[in-house]
Amino acid sequence: MNHPAMQGLSLNAPSYVKNARLIAWVADMAALCKPDTVYWCDGSEEEYQRLCQQLVDAGTLTRLNPAKRPNSFLACSDPSDVARVEDRTYICSSKKEDAGPTNNWVAPDEMRATLQPLFDGCMRGRTMYVVPFSMGPLGSPIAHIGVELSDSPYVAINMKIMTRMGKAVFDVLGVNGQFVPCVHTVGAPLAAGEKGVKWPCNKTKYIVHYPETREIWSYGSGYGGNALLGKKCFALRIASNMGRDEGWLAEHMLILGVTNPQGKKYHVAAAFPSACGKTNFSMLVPPAGFEGWTVTTIGDDIAWIKPGADGKLYAINPEAGYFGVAPGTNMLTNPNCLRSLDRDVIFTNVGLTDDGDVWWEGMEQDAPGKALPAHLIDWQGKDWTPQIAKETGAKAAHPNSRFTVAATNNPALDPAWNDPAGVPLDAFIFGGRRSDTVPLVTEGRNWVEGVYMAATMGSETTAAITGQVGVVRRDPFAMLAFAGYNMADYFQHWLNVGKKLEASGAKLPKIFTANWFRKGADGKFVWPGYGENMRVLKWMIDRIEGQGKGQEHFTGISPAYEDLNWTGLDFSAQQFDSVISMDRSAWAKELALHEELFKQLEHHLPEELTQTKAAIEKRLAA
Ligand code: GTP
Ligand code: SPV
Ligand code: MN
Repeated sequence: MNHPAMQGLSLNAPSYVKNARLIAWVADMAALCKPDTVYWCDGSEEEYQRLCQQLVDAGTLTRLNPAKRPNSFLACSDPSDVARVEDRTYICSSKKEDAGPTNNWVAPDEMRATLQPLFDGCMRGRTMYVVPFSMGPLGSPIAHIGVELSDSPYVAINMKIMTRMGKAVFDVLGVNGQFVPCVHTVGAPLAAGEKGVKWPCNKTKYIVHYPETREIWSYGSGYGGNALLGKKCFALRIASNMGRDEGWLAEHMLILGVTNPQGKKYHVAAAFPSACGKTNFSMLVPPAGFEGWTVTTIGDDIAWIKPGADGKLYAINPEAGYFGVAPGTNMLTNPNCLRSLDRDVIFTNVGLTDDGDVWWEGMEQDAPGKALPAHLIDWQGKDWTPQIAKETGAKAAHPNSRFTVAATNNPALDPAWNDPAGVPLDAFIFGGRRSDTVPLVTEGRNWVEGVYMAATMGSETTAAITGQVGVVRRDPFAMLAFAGYNMADYFQHWLNVGKKLEASGAKLPKIFTANWFRKGADGKFVWPGYGENMRVLKWMIDRIEGQGKGQEHFTGISPAYEDLNWTGLDFSAQQFDSVISMDRSAWAKELALHEELFKQLEHHLPEELTQTKAAIEKRLAA
């Protein structure tokens, strides 16, 4: 079975691997990447522990104090490899217009010619891990299988947590089952006898998708979405192409269940851009004034949404774990998340305390007078003290530091989180991070108006991507970096899905926009956020039930002060006004930015959206 170019390297394929295309592809890739050995992951606990220990021995992982944080590890990356690299991410469709103006595009042949020499010998001195995974419950009709080849054991252990990874995937694949081939290398081959560094990576990075052949090639980074290819690369960029072709949606959305005191349950999917509050919202703990309400998590980052036979939209979370933002997470902001992190966690780029635990900025804010650690080792391996932080601004944790943890660690996990049938959606929420202009909450009066609001959404950039933080950019549907095809066609796909559901006579999910991030003159967030977002969620449910009051304005419907439940929160009508008000001149500027986006996307831009914009402008001018 060995490839002629493998020069004696054994493929080591276990006898239970029967998929001919898979074996041939692994042989081809081994011949190209030239690893020292090929290792097929079985996904067992024993294997996880063995790889973790190997990473501890290599200096990549530090085992945390088992008395404080059992079965948990800290990895600190190279300071140049800390977030997704959007400027190095490519959609290589044969036609440029199929990638569209918001994606980086290179012709497939040209990209293959570029990558060929980079991948040639890229795994020398390393092991190639064959990582089989299922996005979605194993064997379910809505799940899709991928196989990631990676020279990073850190990737293998993270994939074990983030996906259904292991041997059972080969059984589902069988002899001729389909899978998405994903090749990943850190791009740091080792010379004979060379000792590797703790976080190998390469200055040159390429995160490449071939949507037509459903392939992913990733070079040079070991971090997050650049390297854990089941997540953004597969479950969003490749899956959005599958969804367009097959009539479903792959979205950058959390999914939650919310049950009222009478026991009636609703399901909501919400798209907020990276580091804008999805994990937090998906684990929301209802505040005082909402006794008897519960919120449960189905997913925190990605939703696959398919029309059911009953005309409803059903959502599943294709992932099995959370790769969540650490800074800002504490017992006040997200208690369920913090409890999820009690054990069995891989932390990346947070601070290491002197007693072998982890720490990040914001951990001190959940109790009055809670002290900062007197000393720790920061994510770059340097001494950190409150004094050093004060003098130099040094952070204990990188702003995009993260935790990897299994969904099953979440105390608020929804009983249906693993249900292949998914959950029926009652509403969509789209939310950006905006210091000004955009109100706390708006309801679209119909599907098209909702799609318009989602399509034109803007958000301030965060540390989740490399580059400048805090710059407002359009981030349609929170999918700017994740739609694997032309954004204008993606808008059309959303309109088509709505039309089809409407034609079937079904009640469409309502579409809302939200903004938790308006700031006051003092530069501080006015809205308390986190658990208090329940007040807005409750208003949405009232609206779904046809009971909640609202006021029409030029972009949609928003609540007045008295339309929300304020029990248990001291928040004045004046404060509310400063997060809900719409300034006409600010909105005139906002619409100019919508126009800019529409100009960029004018090829194939759906007529309905231009019409919606004209109607808003007319109302604004009235
Ligand atoms: P990705 O994993 O990058 O997709 O991020 P996410 O959308 O899941 O964001 P997450 O919930 O991890 O929140 C990111 C940051 O925003 C954290 O520092 C949170 O503390 C903060 N945050 C979340 N919700 C709120 C909120 O309601 N108000 C405010 N002010 N901050 C919030
Ligand atoms: C995001 O950036 O939206 C994330 C983190 O969820 S990553 O997995 O790196 O994409
Ligand atoms: Mn995300």
